[in-house]
Amino acid sequence: MSNNLMKKKLQGKVVIVTGGSSGIGETTARVLADRGARAVVITGLHSERGRAVAESIGLQRCSYVQCDVTDEEQVAAMIEWTAKTYGGLDVMFSNAGTVSSLPQTVLDLDLSEYDRVMRVNARGMAVCVKQAARKMVEMGTGGAIICMASAAAEKAAGKATDYGMSKRAVLGLMRSASLQLGPHGIRVNSVSPGVVITPLAAKYGLVTPADVEKHMGPYTSLKGATLTAENVADAVAFLASDEAAFVAGVDLAVDGGMVALPFQLSN
Ligand SMILES: NC(=O)c1ccc[n+]([C@@H]2O[C@H](COP(=O)([O-])OP(=O)(O)OC[C@H]3O[C@@H](n4cnc5c(N)ncnc54)[C@H](O)[C@@H]3O)[C@@H](O)[C@H]2O)c1
Repeated sequence: MSNNLMKKKLQGKVVIVTGGSSGIGETTARVLADRGARAVVITGLHSERGRAVAESIGLQRCSYVQCDVTDEEQVAAMIEWTAKTYGGLDVMFSNAGTVSSLPQTVLDLDLSEYDRVMRVNARGMAVCVKQAARKMVEMGTGGAIICMASAAAEKAAGKATDYGMSKRAVLGLMRSASLQLGPHGIRVNSVSPGVVITPLAAKYGLVTPADVEKHMGPYTSLKGATLTAENVADAVAFLASDEAAFVAGVDLAVDGGMVALPFQLSN
């Protein structure tokens, strides 16, 4: 789709991107602003970095708000502030997430790490979807909510059992929310990327395209390309736009065909 058409489709929208001070969230905030969003509020835990990102997008229409997604009061206040400051809320990209810092196989599952990952990825997601939806219902304007899931929600996760579980929970939330919020004109969908090189992927030792190719190449049907944060941002921009006006309850895989790979039958 041409940039101009996408621009028109996002024109006038007020958008929140959680975890927007780095990685996929930061890139998506830039792409949504580029394509005409009226205001972009990025949230996160790192104020210095968040403020710098907001400044580089342009302080007339981009703000950074420090906000822990697991804290319902903070999330509610951030959403209230956004709606008051910019006169509405059209799109919530609930992107913030974390990974475990240990190899988390079932046999060695560290339950304090498990609790931390589930708290951010599952509870944090529920808090953000709940509060954004409540504001959209109150305003009666409809809206789009996009949840960040992962290819790990569909596939067995090698040493990240808790991460895979937490992202599977995101799909459950997305589908229930889609059913419940559709009558209010709120579309809820998710995106499930493969591996993108970000600070989060670096925690699993995935730092260069060669690392990604080595670990993920065998599971990807599209060859010779590395998934970028821009690829994911394009998918989010589509789901956020009026182009996706009849798309709801869908998990959009952005994984180079990983989800569609067949069973490898051998004789
Ligand atoms: N990078 C990948 O390969 C990949 C693949 C699939 C899904 N994802 C998902 O994409 C999302 C973004 O990750 P990323 O790869 O861009 O890494 P990242 O580390 O750059 O981004 C994660 C962001 O979430 C924020 N965050 C973490 N805990 C938070 C909390 N309690 N409250 C508020 N913000 C919090 C971090 O500060 C950070 O800005 C995550 O949900 C991740 O699970 C990433």
